[in-house]
Parts: sequence; C-alpha cells; structure tokens
Amino acid sequence: MIILAIETSCDETAVAVVEGTGDIYESEMNIRSNVVHSQIDVHAPYGGVYPSLAKREHAKNLVPVCLRALDEAGYEMSESTLADAPEDVQENIEHILEREPELYAAMLDALPLARPDIDAIAVTHGPGLEPALWVGINFARALTTLWGLPIVPVNHMEGHILSGFSKGNTFPLGSHVVPFPSLALLVSGGHTELVLMHDLFSCTFIGGTRDDAVGEAFDKVARVLDLPYPGGPAISKLANDAPPRTDEDISFPRPMLHSGDYDFSFSGIKTSVLYAAKKFEALSETTKRVFAREFQDAVIEVLVKKTIAAAKEYNVHALILGGGVSANTALRDVFTQAVAEELPDISLHLPDKRATTDNAAMIGLSGYFRFLRGDTVDPEHVSAHGNLSLEE
Ligand code: KG4
Ligand code: ZN
Repeated sequence: MIILAIETSCDETAVAVVEGTGDIYESEMNIRSNVVHSQIDVHAPYGGVYPSLAKREHAKNLVPVCLRALDEAGYEMSESTLADAPEDVQENIEHILEREPELYAAMLDALPLARPDIDAIAVTHGPGLEPALWVGINFARALTTLWGLPIVPVNHMEGHILSGFSKGNTFPLGSHVVPFPSLALLVSGGHTELVLMHDLFSCTFIGGTRDDAVGEAFDKVARVLDLPYPGGPAISKLANDAPPRTDEDISFPRPMLHSGDYDFSFSGIKTSVLYAAKKFEALSETTKRVFAREFQDAVIEVLVKKTIAAAKEYNVHALILGGGVSANTALRDVFTQAVAEELPDISLHLPDKRATTDNAAMIGLSGYFRFLRGDTVDPEHVSAHGNLSLEE
C-alpha cells in the first residue's frame, strides 16, 4: 500500500511517498520520494522560528513540494486540475481551506484532479507549532476530499523514532522486527525525552528536560557565540575544529548528572556559556571553538550517561536516537562507543544523517502502521495538538 505523507509541524514543508508491504508484525517500507523544503533562510534573520511566518511559508510551498514528491515517486499526473472539478467539490475544498486562500489558489491551478495511485494520506497532527500544523492538516483534508482517500493522523515524535531503523532506503519494521522493550532518546529543537517503548504503539515517558530542549540550548549558545541559526550544525562544526583540550580550558557544568532520575536541564549550561563569554570584550575564533567544544561535551556527557543508565535499569534490547540533534557527529560517536563498551548486547539505531531533521518519510512510516492498526479518522475530526504526547 502507498502512503502520501505530509509534515508541517515546524519550519520544514515536507511531502513524501512511502510504500509499505507486510503486516503490523513484520513489514518492509520503501521511500519512493522524500521532498523537504526548509524555511531556515526565512527564519534565520530572527534567530528562531516564527509560527505565523512558518504558516505562511507552508501555505506557499505545500503544492509545489507535493507535486515534486509525486513526480519523483514516478507518477504521471493528469492534465486536468482542481479547477476542472465539479463546482460542489471546489466549494467543499475552498471551505476547508478558508484560512489558507493562497493554498487553495495554488491547488486550483496545479493539483491533478485524478487520484494518483495512493491508498491513504498521513499527516502530522502534533506536537509542533499549531498554526503550522493546521496548514498541513487542512491540505491533507483537502486532498482526501478531492481524491476520496482515508486520512491517518501521525505523532511527529513517533516518526522520529521509526527513522532510526533505516537500511539505506528501506525500513524493516513491525512489532516482531523491532526489539522491544526499546529505549528512545528524542532530541530536537522542541524536545528532549527518554521514552521506553513496550511495543510499537505503547510507551512510557521516563524522563525529559525541565527547561530548554537540547536543540534549543544549541541554538541559544550559538547566539551567544554570534553564530547563525540553527545553532546545532554551526556549533558542531566549530567544536570539530577546536584545538586539543588543555587543563586551562574552561569547563561547563553537567547539570542533573547525578539527580537520580532521568530528567535533564540545559538552561544552566547556556547561562554558564553566557557568563564566560561576558568576561571577554570580543571572543577570538579559537575561544569560540573551545567554548563550542566544551558546551557540546557537557551536553553529550549528560545525555549519554543518563540514557545508558536508563537502558540498564529497564533492560532494553535496543536504543534508538531520533530528532534533529541526532545529526550531531560527536553525539553519535560517543553513543556508539558507550553502547559498545557498556551494553554490547543491545542494538543501537541511529537515523541516517539526512533523515535526522524533519521530513515526511518518517510520517509515512508511522502512518503505514497506524493505518494497519485502523487509526484512520474522519477528516473533519483531525486537528492540531501542539503538545501531543506519545503516551496514549
Ligand atoms: O527535529 P528538528 O529538525 O526540528 C524540531 O522538531 O525541533 O530539530 C532541529 C534542532 C535545532 O535546534 C538544531 O540546532 C538541532 O536540531 N541540530 C543539531 C545539529 N543539527 C541540527 N544540534 C546539534 N548538532 C547538530 N549537528
Ligand atoms: Zn522534529
């Protein structure tokens, strides 16, 4: 079966076509196309993502991104578009998109009237920025109305978890394939969560950040060091270029390392970096590199040590890393080494580097299982949930 997946929870407009075979226990999924339009350039001048700006950009980009995803998946598109549809269909869709008139106008002229060979539409309904989520949801509702397809709402974080199971472009998945119990560490711009997965659809939240998310801390420290947004890649690059550590180098705190639970706190490290930076009139390139490396080391040490401790306590069979920060090379390396040394019998699942940041293929993976489980809903009942939890 073929899923068209839509993701607009933050600042990437993404559409993918995913083909799944097999059942909920054992299946294989192939990514036929995965198109991501990043809004980073639009948000960078503000140093963060602005929800209303993100919403406007999604409305502008969804139709071209969707057409590219269909084209790259190999579909021949019909010449006739929504503008050729019966009036009542057009009115229905115009009503669904009454808050996105620009999106409706783009659909009229470009969206093929004939349904491509697709079986269902999956769309992110949370967590994320609600105005941004709504654009994707309304687009999905409009497509289901036009093409007569079922719709499956997907939790964005579940997508990040499943991204860890890639073998190239193929994902062997299913509840008999993924080793349970598994522990997932989700690290992104909005989340830092340790999730114990009992099965594909059942999990318990065992810890998380009490203040800033890890990605957010990277972004804030980047601002202190006068680096562009998003801060993660910029800090990671500076840290890689840093000179070897010396005893005189500054060291930042490891907050909550020994707190006895699985919670985190990252706002204190950010404040330490800020105070340390204020002692200099201007930061030299070398000092910036040392700060970047020391900040990154502090964050990684806390993340890895607490995650490994949780993996031991809960006797998990697999560790999964997901979310934008899992692109960080040092984090991946330290995790790989720690698992090899301390938990050699468990498997470590890292997403392909290109699949770490937000994309729609991951929504398609989750959508396939949700569809098999019967989680389709009436299009009118899909709505955005900014704080949607993984725990059901
Ligand atoms: O998952 P994601 O694309 O979007 C959210 O759902 O938030 O994550 C984006 C976050 C940003 O905070 C960005 O700075 C961070 O991931 N990030 C990184 C790296 N690449 C992206 N953080 C550290 N190292 C990286 N290489
Ligand atoms: Zn994300």
